[in-house]
Amino acid sequence: MISLGIESTAWNFSVGVVSEDEVIALEGEAYSPKEGGIHPREAAQHHSEVAGKILSRIFRKISPDEIDVFSFSQGPGMGPCLRVGATVARALALKLEKPLVGVNHCLAHVEIGKWLTEAKDPVTLYVSGGNSQIIARRGRRYRVFGETLDIGIGNAIDKLARYMGLKHPGGPKIEKLAEKGTGYIEMPYVVKGMDFSFSGIVTHAMKLFDEGYRAEDIAFSFQETAFAMLVEVTERAMAYLDRNECLLVGGVGANRRLQEMLRLMCHDRNADFHAPPSEYMGDNGAMIAYTGLVMLKHGIRTEVQNSQVRPDFRIEEVEILW
Ligand code: ATP
Ligand code: FE2
Repeated sequence: MISLGIESTAWNFSVGVVSEDEVIALEGEAYSPKEGGIHPREAAQHHSEVAGKILSRIFRKISPDEIDVFSFSQGPGMGPCLRVGATVARALALKLEKPLVGVNHCLAHVEIGKWLTEAKDPVTLYVSGGNSQIIARRGRRYRVFGETLDIGIGNAIDKLARYMGLKHPGGPKIEKLAEKGTGYIEMPYVVKGMDFSFSGIVTHAMKLFDEGYRAEDIAFSFQETAFAMLVEVTERAMAYLDRNECLLVGGVGANRRLQEMLRLMCHDRNADFHAPPSEYMGDNGAMIAYTGLVMLKHGIRTEVQNSQVRPDFRIEEVEILW
């Protein structure tokens, strides 16, 4: 079976094609704001402008007739952006008379992580711009065992980066700066039960920047503190659920220091650490294609009349039949 998946929740319009065994094609184009953060309508405009040429690139690698199912990111995400991907997927499915599958974006991050690594039943740390969650499967649902009470870690990093004059996305730039940090500066460490919050630490870091502290030390201290919060809760979920695998997914998962901290934690508790290759950490069409394929194989499809986007779609809402 071959599945085409469209990802368009936020900054990336990406189309992937996968079979049961491998990624056949992956093409996309990122929207980057001229200034500030992501503007939903501008991003959606970008996606509709590039959709045609990205599909042509895909169809140079595989003929549309060879595709058995069209999948799209149904949510969570920015409404105007989601609608572009959904419209393109509906049009293709209708024209080619093939099934349509609406995929939960967070579930897709987890599923592609499991597919591309050896993780079987892990505790997953899912860290991206909009989301920061600790997820594990229990019976027929994925459950969220801890999550951010305000903004996602990626948005927190991007906000700080913008304040320090760095262009969006700030994640990789803050990571580079942090490597040159030499002194740790105390930052607010906010873990409440199994949840955490990042807005306090961002405000504090901005204040330090105004006071003239070195950007390198701020970036370093910010990463050390915020990542320690994530690792602490991930470890507690592993202990509570008695799981010995940890999987890291989401755009922030590309961060080397975060990977290193999780690897150390896993090593200390005799657990395995898994992370897919970086290009499959952030938003990509292959993760939607793969999850759509698995869903269709288990009899799940989305009728066109029920295919409206769901900006607040949560992972717990999906029944896992596989
Ligand atoms: P979601 O809809 O799942 O919230 P998203 O739209 O935020 O996804 P992702 O591609 O999953 O998209 O994540 C993007 C985020 O990852 C951005 O905030 C970006 O700054 C961050 N990021 C990318 N690379 C790194 C890195 N090396 N270190 C830290 N953060 C990074
Ligand atoms: Fe994402």
